[in-house]
Amino acid sequence: MAESTAQQVMEIRAGLSHALGAAAIALDRARGAHAAAVERRRRVEAAAEARLRKIDSARDNRLAEIDEQHRTDLAAYAGAAAAAADRAAPGAAGDPWDDWQATPLDRAAELRVGRLLLPHPEEVPALVPLLDRGHVVVRGDRTLGDEVVAGLLLRALGTAAPGRVQLIGYDPEHLGGGLARFAPLAPAGVLTFVGPGGLPALLDDLTAHVRRINETVLAGEYTSLRELNAATHRRPEPWRVAVLLGAGELSRPEQAQLQRLLRTGAACGVHLVIQGLPVQAADGIEFITAASGDHARVSSAGALPVRLDGGPPQAVVAATCRRIAEAVEAGPAPVALDSLLPQEEWKQSAATGLSAPLGDSPQGVPVQVTLADYPPHALIAGPSGTGKTNLIYAWMGALAARYSPAELAFYLLDFKEGVSFARFAPGRRDPSWLPHVRLVGLNVNTDREFGLALLRFLGEELRRRADAAKRYEVTNLAELRAEDPEGSWPRIVAVVDEFQVLLSGRDAVAAEAVDLLEDLARRGRSQGIHLILASQDVSGIEALWGRPALVAQFSLRIALPRARRILAETNTAAESLPRYHAVVNADSGALEANKVVRVPAAGDRERWNALQHRLWRKRPPELGPPRLFDGDVVPRLADSPDFRRLAPAEQVAAPMVLLGETIDVAARSARTVLRRAPGRNLAVLGTRMDEACAILATAARSLAAQFPPDGARFSILCLDQDARAAAAALCAELPECGSFDADSADWLLEDVAAEASASFPSDRPHFLVIYAADALPGGKETAEQLRTILRQGPERRLHVLGWWRGAALLRDALGGQASRTDPIGAWVALDVHGSELAPFYPGARAPAWYPRPWRALHFDRSVHRGAEVIIPYGAGS
Ligand SMILES: Nc1ncnc2c1ncn2[C@@H]1O[C@H](COP(=O)(O)OP(=O)(O)OP(=O)(O)O)[C@@H](O)[C@H]1O
Ligand SMILES: [Mg+2]
Repeated sequence: MAESTAQQVMEIRAGLSHALGAAAIALDRARGAHAAAVERRRRVEAAAEARLRKIDSARDNRLAEIDEQHRTDLAAYAGAAAAAADRAAPGAAGDPWDDWQATPLDRAAELRVGRLLLPHPEEVPALVPLLDRGHVVVRGDRTLGDEVVAGLLLRALGTAAPGRVQLIGYDPEHLGGGLARFAPLAPAGVLTFVGPGGLPALLDDLTAHVRRINETVLAGEYTSLRELNAATHRRPEPWRVAVLLGAGELSRPEQAQLQRLLRTGAACGVHLVIQGLPVQAADGIEFITAASGDHARVSSAGALPVRLDGGPPQAVVAATCRRIAEAVEAGPAPVALDSLLPQEEWKQSAATGLSAPLGDSPQGVPVQVTLADYPPHALIAGPSGTGKTNLIYAWMGALAARYSPAELAFYLLDFKEGVSFARFAPGRRDPSWLPHVRLVGLNVNTDREFGLALLRFLGEELRRRADAAKRYEVTNLAELRAEDPEGSWPRIVAVVDEFQVLLSGRDAVAAEAVDLLEDLARRGRSQGIHLILASQDVSGIEALWGRPALVAQFSLRIALPRARRILAETNTAAESLPRYHAVVNADSGALEANKVVRVPAAGDRERWNALQHRLWRKRPPELGPPRLFDGDVVPRLADSPDFRRLAPAEQVAAPMVLLGETIDVAARSARTVLRRAPGRNLAVLGTRMDEACAILATAARSLAAQFPPDGARFSILCLDQDARAAAAALCAELPECGSFDADSADWLLEDVAAEASASFPSDRPHFLVIYAADALPGGKETAEQLRTILRQGPERRLHVLGWWRGAALLRDALGGQASRTDPIGAWVALDVHGSELAPFYPGARAPAWYPRPWRALHFDRSVHRGAEVIIPYGAGS
């Protein structure tokens, strides 16, 4: 058993040792595995760490890249947005207030209200569209909102030409206080206030504008004024911006009207700026939420925060408003004369009438004015300075460019002091003339006779045309031209500026002028003779009273601003006309025939000259310059066509004495013929020595021009010291002239008296020129000799050309009150009143004569029915 026990022990030991060995091996193995596992784990951990680091760095790089891209994109977007904003809101629409000024633009712009807050330093303005686009509703903080509204309005005003944006303010709570800073616009009508309770009327009024503009301005051709403007570059209507500030609750009809305007107004330039009224969001309505800091919003910018600009500085608002008001009150910039000119000049036929535009209507359409059988004649009226003369220029320019001188002729008369029509005649500086002008009368205010002369001349032309019409059996100019295509039958337009001067007073000139006018007006219509009369106040012209038939012929009426009573009694259109506008009415002033026209400035010398020169260069070669009558210019004998025609002849049966220029269209010289017949002496009467000397010199020089050097004798007797120089100068010019004075007067008269009563025939004429004949020395004897010469001389070709310094002195020379006056067959009176001339004038009445400088009254009893006014030729001319 022991053995077995030991054995068993040994066996157990062996077993144990075996197990131990196995365990040690297993342990070793396990240890090895553990170490390997630990190592593996370390490696994995290291790899993971490296990987993580790599990922992190890649992520960081990527993030940096993304950030960079983001920054670049944002900068690009912000830059583009800023540039686009600059384009959309240039100048006054977007400039900051610190250097802001009005800059009228050629199209409507968006308006800046603040800036968008972007995570980028580039400044991007927040803009809202208003003019031509839509409406703006301001909500939120009231005070900040007020500044937004003020800024918007100033920007809108500043981007348009003065007056093109009109504001209408409705501010019932503050009674206009909200718009008080714009008040300087009110007097010029650029800002109007609507009182509390005026909202319905205001909305109706704006709706009416929209309707009118749709119907008559857009007229189905355009969908909006903006489109019209883009297509035609015209903007016939202003923008009307109604500012509605806190109206409270609206009634249903008001709501409806407001909705209508919000829908339809913008296309017609009617825009609403609303604060404190509930408005539903809709297309074309921009909502601005006023708030401080970053909390403001503008609906078109979505959720982007907006920082609003402060309001415009008061000084800038005031200065801008003042400037706009001044510009509006000064009136619109003048239209250019060129706008009246046709594409091709001288292409129209005047057969049936004369048609030309006079300017633009407020809708921008040219207004045509016609002179024809109806209306045949025009009256133009307007207070001083309203542009009558300018309108005449513009009209003449438009006509002259359309019709050639063969179609149209002008006769022009200006009764106002000045030179307004002088531009049409050749002058010292500019030799051109308007080829259509046949006559220019300037400074005729004291020579109303020249007006008569023109009317008489036209009367003659009328007769000539009527005779031709009769010959061709036609009744008007168009038919006459058709029957006589070779004839020269231009339409005649006679323009009389300030014609009231011609018709003023109740004298013979006015009476004859009215008669002539009436005849011309009545019969001229069918013969192509048209009258244009301009005056400050037609109703003041006495001579037209009681002549309704005459006035009725002038069915074309043109009224300048504030013209009175030229249109029909109830037609007050001229009262509210802006400056440089006119109402043209071709139906005697009937209300429904009114057409408003904006007249271009034709006074501008340069523009006018360009036209005149062009037409002048085109003139037919045979067309000479117009006759120029200038009442302020002393005519020269050397220029007288009648004087130039005088030439020496062997036999001069009836020597002609020229005296001065007659006041007529043809520049004739007044004349008296010294035939061999009783009474053929000439007396010059009055105290004005220069004029008397000038007349005697003209008379003697014109006589001398008809004789060969020894063909006539002249004796000059000068009895006035002061006239000596003139007498001597004359004597030196005359061939065969004897000169005498007070010392030699007695034997000269004795000699000449003997010659006058001699029985042998005279061989040649003898002209005795006496200066101051009333100062004859030698008492009764020489006086008697002078009477003998006056009575008997002419029969023997011995004629006296004498100057007496008064009519009564001449009477004395003839033998006193009871004596006959027929030895003086012709006289020229200077400063002698008509009544004093009665003894030398036939009939019971004295001539109507009120002396005036450098004018004389001439009467020749052998040819004249009445006396004529003449202008002495300048001495030494
Ligand atoms: N359409 C116009 N555009 C610009 N300026 C104008 C226009 N019409 C007139 N004017 C200017 O106004 C001034 C007065 O015009 P104009 O002489 O034609 O007036 P008027 O009515 O004839 O005055 P008056 O009765 O004193 O003769 C002028 O300086 C003229 O240049
Ligand atoms: Mg004038």
